[in-house]
Amino acid sequence: MDASNTSKTATLTVGNKSYDFPVKNGTEGPDVVDISTLYNKAGIFTYDPGFMATASCESKITYIDGDAGILRYRGYPIEQVAQGDFLETCYLLLEGELPNKAQKADFVNRVTNHTMVHEQMARFFQGFRRDAHPMAVMVASVGALSAFYHDSTDINDPHQRMVASMRMIAKVPTLAAMAYKYTIGQPFIYPQNSLDYASNFMRMCFAVPCEEYKVNPVLSRALDKIFILHADHEQNASTNTVRSSGSSGANPFACIAAGIACLWGPAHGGANEAALKMLTEIGDVKNIPAFIKRAKDKEDLFRVMGFGHRVYKNYDPRAKIMQQLCHEVLKETGHENDPVLQVALEFERILLSDDYFISRKLYPNVDFYSGITLKALGFPTSMFTVLFAVARTVGWIAQWKEMIDDPNYKIARPRQLYTGDVERQYIPLDKRK
Ligand code: CMC
Repeated sequence: MDASNTSKTATLTVGNKSYDFPVKNGTEGPDVVDISTLYNKAGIFTYDPGFMATASCESKITYIDGDAGILRYRGYPIEQVAQGDFLETCYLLLEGELPNKAQKADFVNRVTNHTMVHEQMARFFQGFRRDAHPMAVMVASVGALSAFYHDSTDINDPHQRMVASMRMIAKVPTLAAMAYKYTIGQPFIYPQNSLDYASNFMRMCFAVPCEEYKVNPVLSRALDKIFILHADHEQNASTNTVRSSGSSGANPFACIAAGIACLWGPAHGGANEAALKMLTEIGDVKNIPAFIKRAKDKEDLFRVMGFGHRVYKNYDPRAKIMQQLCHEVLKETGHENDPVLQVALEFERILLSDDYFISRKLYPNVDFYSGITLKALGFPTSMFTVLFAVARTVGWIAQWKEMIDDPNYKIARPRQLYTGDVERQYIPLDKRK
């Protein structure tokens, strides 16, 4: 794919030897030193746990300027993309351009045609305990899709890659709603293809066969926007997981399941669940100082959930939109005076003026307000990360497709700094002390 320019050279001196490496310039963001020949030239590796300063790939999909608080999908600021709808965002992320009317209608039609899952999936669900966490069910059921679409998913065929992409965008919400229905013991609700993406999802989650279900357009529009905000976020942990899994040529449904597993963790997608839990635990604004004290105490593992970000060292632009959505949803549902919201607003106000948080550039991230909003939409906390997975599926697929299309892609195989034992001799069991 190499679309970067090379303008400068970086010189690395190790002992008395120097090695030159090309410095690549992207269209935006910091320059990147291409050290791919380092080991061949100098016989050494670089050490960068957590990829703090490593660009793992070249990408054209999403750009973040963490210092300026900027997020763009294919060059469009998130604030503007959020004016459209989620399926338009999916098209943009996958195809690189906004669709015209005909392209949009065709895309919506293609996604909509794939919303049902194989009827055997329902039987697969019955193997889970009723109290299984829906994210566990998602990891398993999305992974299980690979069993249904293995022979028809030749990743070297662009058409089959596109069909697999459509299937995932269409079926992940269906599986997510089934995961929810299963845990509450209600019958699965089949997709209704006349509804838009978010409305269909709400209906699959909240409708029951014995009653009419009317989608509240204010709430479904809010959910659609929440999906847009979470659709992609460049090389985050779960996307890196999907790319790494896919780099071996694995089945894409299995790769997305791997991404879901990674997303589940509280430092990533699980933070919205953890943030709401934390705000509920605080309970009253008078308890805020005690929690701030805990956050600063290095002996205490407590962290302010929904605060801080590896990339954003400024206000997360998604958090601003999320705060606005939170107010809209709480107004529509009559929860404007929700004590958890009052705690969140006051907590945010205090943290933003506290030296500890200012000096470490810790600002609210998207998860600070998303938990309260999702709760007001009617979702239980265990579903929060599932909703994130529904939205992020398109980002994972766009990144996976980009990787497969890249002629320079290689299996992800990092090296290590080995600090274990040097060679020693095996002692038979009866001779060991
Ligand atoms: N509360 C209190 N202190 C914090 C927090 C926090 N939420 N986040 C970072 N710090 C402190 C940390 O203790 C460290 O202090 P010191 O320099 O004195 O040791 C400093 O800030 C830098 O932290 P770090 O862990 O080196 O930063 P990181 O870039 O590795 O971590 C993070 C990023 C998101 C894991 C972290 O900020 C965090 O744990 N936040 C809470 C969880 C959360 O909200 N995650 C959602 C991320 S957004 C959604 C997504 O993309 O998945």
